[in-house]
Amino acid sequence: MTDGTNRAWTMAVRPEAEPSAETFAMTETAIPTAKHGEVLVRTLYMSLDPYMRGRMRVAKTYAASLQPGDVITGEVIAVVEQSESPIHKVGDTVRANIGWQEWAAIPAHEATPVNPDLGPVSTGVGILGMPGMTAFFGLNAVLMPKTGDTLVVSAASGAVGAIVGQLGKLQGCFVIGTAGSNEKCRYIVDELGFDAAINYKTQDISAELARLAPDGVNIFFDNVGGAVSDAVFENLTLHTRIAICGQISQYNDEETAQGPRNLMMLTRNRATVQGFLVYDYELDHDMAKARMSNWIKEGKLKYKEDVVDGFENAPEAFIGLLTGKNFGKLLVKVSEEIA
Ligand SMILES: NC(=O)c1ccc[n+]([C@@H]2O[C@H](COP(=O)([O-])OP(=O)(O)OC[C@H]3O[C@@H](n4cnc5c(N)ncnc54)[C@H](OP(=O)(O)O)[C@@H]3O)[C@@H](O)[C@H]2O)c1
Repeated sequence: MTDGTNRAWTMAVRPEAEPSAETFAMTETAIPTAKHGEVLVRTLYMSLDPYMRGRMRVAKTYAASLQPGDVITGEVIAVVEQSESPIHKVGDTVRANIGWQEWAAIPAHEATPVNPDLGPVSTGVGILGMPGMTAFFGLNAVLMPKTGDTLVVSAASGAVGAIVGQLGKLQGCFVIGTAGSNEKCRYIVDELGFDAAINYKTQDISAELARLAPDGVNIFFDNVGGAVSDAVFENLTLHTRIAICGQISQYNDEETAQGPRNLMMLTRNRATVQGFLVYDYELDHDMAKARMSNWIKEGKLKYKEDVVDGFENAPEAFIGLLTGKNFGKLLVKVSEEIA
């Protein structure tokens, strides 16, 4: 049941370093009504992702910056509650870019159907959504792994990294992940089948890599940047391929972004570095989703969701994402499928 109120989280103040509770403000408006060609959607799950920190910057990025008062950007899984379009009917589950809010009336074509046969609907913003597609195409299209390659992936227990490592194993790579706690390190080895893990907070990353991969790293999927990347760059081999997926260690740093600092290692090893965005491969996403859904059903691919209950808890959960408090794909559960 609803009291007719739509709650939304906006960016109240632009953060200069780590976001805090003061960064966010909750607004309340009346639930809108869908007009001709629109659907009214109710949020079930909100996806919290590191890129949202980038939207809070003024700096030029690949998408427009948020302005104070704007609803925080983001994708949700939602249910259609009113339809004024033949594209969706009431009760359909969809994925939509409505930001951090409970309800929205949007053009029907901006809501994408979520196929429940592929997996639980929450996976539509997780392993079978943007993070899963990032892993699939960053690994297969950018890094192009070969059997026997040593693959290193950073933020390895997270939404993207956990999938990268498992896909690497399916392709016959020797997979090393870096993560920020012993619990996360145990998980990627014991549960996900990685060959080895390095706790970047307590271990000497470069020395561990030299021990685990004495012939060097063939492919590196970089989610983190900074000190972790520096250590991997010290352990390259001839023709290492490097995919820059993200640099989360730098996202709260407006002024002093650092590293990799040893680019000469690329010269010595004739290495290749390529940045990419998940949307570069959008036309092939459906193929990858179908393939990954099958692997999940066959038990070849596992995923972990970190579900925070309650719309009001989104800011705290997001702040935690930027310091490693999440363990798995971070979602906020906003309402039940049946209202
Ligand atoms: N290129 C693209 O199209 C694309 C698409 C999606 C995501 N990305 C990028 O992929 C990366 C991973 O995203 P995700 O959604 O999978 O997030 P995630 O890994 O589920 O969560 C973020 C993780 O990053 C780690 N982290 C946070 N601060 C760190 C720091 N200072 N140093 C090292 N690690 C830190 C934390 O794990 P620990 O506990 O291990 O530190 C945290 O749990 C991000 O950089 C994101 O921007 C890029």
